[in-house]
Amino acid sequence: MKRSLKVLVLSVLVWALLPSLASSQAETDNLQPNNTAPPPTVNVPVTVPDPTTFPQLNGTWQVIGKSGIPGVHLALLTPTKMMIINRVDTASPFLPGYTSPYSSLYDLTTNSFDLIPFLKGQPGCATGVFHTNGTLVTTGGKIGGSTGAGEYVRAFTYDDTIGVYNRWDESYGTFTTYRWYSSAVLMPDNSILFVGGSLNATITPNLTNPTYEFMPNPNPNNQPTELPFLTENLPWVLYPALYVMPDGNVFIFVNQGAQLWNPYNNTVIKRLPNIPGSPRTYPLTGSAIMLPLRSSTGWRPEFLVCGGSTALKQNSPADPTCGRISPLDANPTWEMDTMPYPRLMPDSMVLPTGKILFINGAMTGFAGYGKTSMLADVHAMNPVYNPVMYDPDAPLGSRWSVLPPSTLPRMYHSAAYLLPDGRVFVAGSSSNDPICVVQSTNCTFPTLFDIEAFSPPYMLLNAPVPIITAPSAPWVVGYNKQYQFTVSGLTDYSNLTARLINNGFTTHSNHFDQRAVELDIQVSPKDAKSAYISFTTPPNSSVVPPTPMFYLYVVSGAGKPSVGVQVSFDTNAGSQSTPSGGSQNSTTTTSTASSLAGASSLVSLLGFAIVIFFL
Ligand SMILES: *[C@@H]1O[C@H](CO)[C@@H](O)[C@H](O)[C@H]1NC(C)=O
Ligand SMILES: *[C@@H]1O[C@H](CO)[C@@H](O)[C@H](O)[C@H]1NC(C)=O
Ligand SMILES: *[C@@H]1O[C@H](CO)[C@@H](O)[C@H](O)[C@H]1NC(C)=O
Ligand SMILES: *[C@@H]1O[C@H](CO)[C@@H](O)[C@H](O)[C@H]1NC(C)=O
Ligand SMILES: *[C@@H]1O[C@H](CO)[C@@H](O)[C@H](O)[C@H]1NC(C)=O
Ligand SMILES: *[C@@H]1O[C@H](CO)[C@@H](O)[C@H](O)[C@H]1NC(C)=O
Ligand SMILES: *[C@@H]1O[C@H](CO)[C@@H](O)[C@H](O)[C@H]1NC(C)=O
Ligand SMILES: *[C@@H]1O[C@H](CO)[C@@H](O)[C@H](O)[C@H]1NC(C)=O
Ligand SMILES: *[C@@H]1O[C@H](CO)[C@@H](O)[C@H](O)[C@H]1NC(C)=O
Ligand SMILES: *[C@@H]1O[C@H](CO)[C@@H](O)[C@H](O)[C@H]1NC(C)=O
Repeated sequence: MKRSLKVLVLSVLVWALLPSLASSQAETDNLQPNNTAPPPTVNVPVTVPDPTTFPQLNGTWQVIGKSGIPGVHLALLTPTKMMIINRVDTASPFLPGYTSPYSSLYDLTTNSFDLIPFLKGQPGCATGVFHTNGTLVTTGGKIGGSTGAGEYVRAFTYDDTIGVYNRWDESYGTFTTYRWYSSAVLMPDNSILFVGGSLNATITPNLTNPTYEFMPNPNPNNQPTELPFLTENLPWVLYPALYVMPDGNVFIFVNQGAQLWNPYNNTVIKRLPNIPGSPRTYPLTGSAIMLPLRSSTGWRPEFLVCGGSTALKQNSPADPTCGRISPLDANPTWEMDTMPYPRLMPDSMVLPTGKILFINGAMTGFAGYGKTSMLADVHAMNPVYNPVMYDPDAPLGSRWSVLPPSTLPRMYHSAAYLLPDGRVFVAGSSSNDPICVVQSTNCTFPTLFDIEAFSPPYMLLNAPVPIITAPSAPWVVGYNKQYQFTVSGLTDYSNLTARLINNGFTTHSNHFDQRAVELDIQVSPKDAKSAYISFTTPPNSSVVPPTPMFYLYVVSGAGKPSVGVQVSFDTNAGSQSTPSGGSQNSTTTTSTASSLAGASSLVSLLGFAIVIFFL
């Protein structure tokens, strides 16, 4: 905490030196329904499920620390450092009277935070991704022009060797148009694709920015390209779900529409059917997640889209339904299912066990805050306190279970993130306008600064914890290459599973770059107390884009996960030169390993030759 105070003093000094940047304007990311006719109400019959009819599993909640600022955006920078970002919300008791936006670097080992200011514009309602080299790029934010920064691109590179941390690079780039509530995804070539957003307000159709662009931008004059899919799906087109497909195309989902798309030449590959039920994107916010990829299905991608809301009203019912689709099927259809609770603004993530967690959110209303004559000051009511869990491999009708509730309402501007140790970091909620911190008649849902850790059922299992020993930390791997690590701590090494999970950059129920991969592993005994595990990495950077933010988890046959170890995908990474601990005794696996590694370098050489030929 001492360090935090020091940083706070420094920040205040910096701030005092830059008075021109202070803005007295009250900033709210409110809806501006008067710019045009109010958007349509969608009449969706909502059948409210009975949560008590679902299996009830255990789990625990614990308040572990304070975030310093409202926890609106989260990104895990290293295994022990969580970056928290927010716009200006002038109510943090940790920053009395502040008018600058801040980020907060939360240390997971000490449960304390350091505050880092932004000096230029508003980083709120942003999007973000990591480059291969670990640089976090985040863009967008509040209102363009002199008060804001919808056009700014900011970067943060964590480097513990040069002091406490780096400062934000707020001149990393600019867009030619404003993008507030846009989405981003890391492409297979390490470029970033940015899609959509708003020029200013949220839902006003003529303020939507129906374009996309790359960074670096290959277009002459840096001009964004029109994306008709966005105008076709108005008005709910902010924060589109964006995923690179294993075949290199992009899955984009917004409102109720979805398509497969090639952004390099702006070609629609396949228009998918609309999902039944309510709209599913901001401010009728649901959550879209890519289910774990596996080689046994030929990396067939599947998406699950859950929740949403029916209208811009405080009492409009949230949608309890989910749709699951496999876009590469010949005739893709949405397989519909019902969650134990109706839910808008859920946060979704793949857990080390391969199950999907839905956490945070509300049962009525819509996302956002802001005072207008048309809308209530609190846009969402009836927080959902219970997380739920989805088993993608169970038969339809028996996939859902209910987990124990928190006591804290986590609705608008809340976020959640899987930690390397298997717990889930839960932050934020700033649901009231004006922002307030003490509950009263005018402050129904005070802004929360408590960080909670939710422990899913596997944390409570009384079983030995597998321990991963990887060749390096972080462990940099390439594509289609064989690698080996050691697992210890167990008495039984049969029936292990291993997954790579990236939680990406999260805000507003999106996890940009979220992805999970199930590894095909070969287990061979090392000694009485440990085993070698070898696996082949996915074939190329479309299956797994070259991000450094994967964590490798091993789960024992009893269902107990290891602590995750950071794995970084890099197109240029070579084969494993020295397998951990040697591998002379694991016969068949090892010989496959070396021959595969040889074969893959031969393939790389051939590929290189072909590239040169075409140049
Ligand atoms: C918005 O429009 C409604 C209906 O036309 C009107 O009653 C209200 O006063 C307007 N609000 C603002 C803030 O202009
Ligand atoms: C949006 O539309 C409204 C009326 O429909 C108009 O008054 C306003 O100028 C438009 N704004 C922009 C940026 O085009
Ligand atoms: C990381 O890579 C990106 C993209 O190539 C580059 O723009 C950025 O400067 C790099 N960051 C550092 C710290 O080298
Ligand atoms: C954006 O909103 C601000 C105030 O909320 C207003 O001053 C500005 O003119 C708006 N810009 C556009 C392009 O509508
Ligand atoms: C990457 O691998 C996937 C899955 O095998 C395949 O469909 C795709 O064509 C590959 N992409 C490239 C560029 O080789
Ligand atoms: C767009 O690119 C894809 C993949 O490279 C190609 O198959 C398709 O023919 C291209 N479409 C157009 C219209 O150029
Ligand atoms: C609460 O809100 C009402 C209506 O907007 C207002 O009249 C009152 O002054 C507010 N009370 C406080 C303590 O802010
Ligand atoms: C939690 O449930 C698991 C079974 O799912 C059980 O093995 C474990 O003992 C339970 N733990 C607690 C603390 O209730
Ligand atoms: C294998 O492990 C999974 C959990 O990871 C468990 O559900 C399954 O029952 C186990 N099977 C055997 C044969 O132990
Ligand atoms: C290989 O096995 C032999 C005998 O079974 C043992 O002495 C040796 O330590 C093992 N080597 C490794 C690397 O595990």
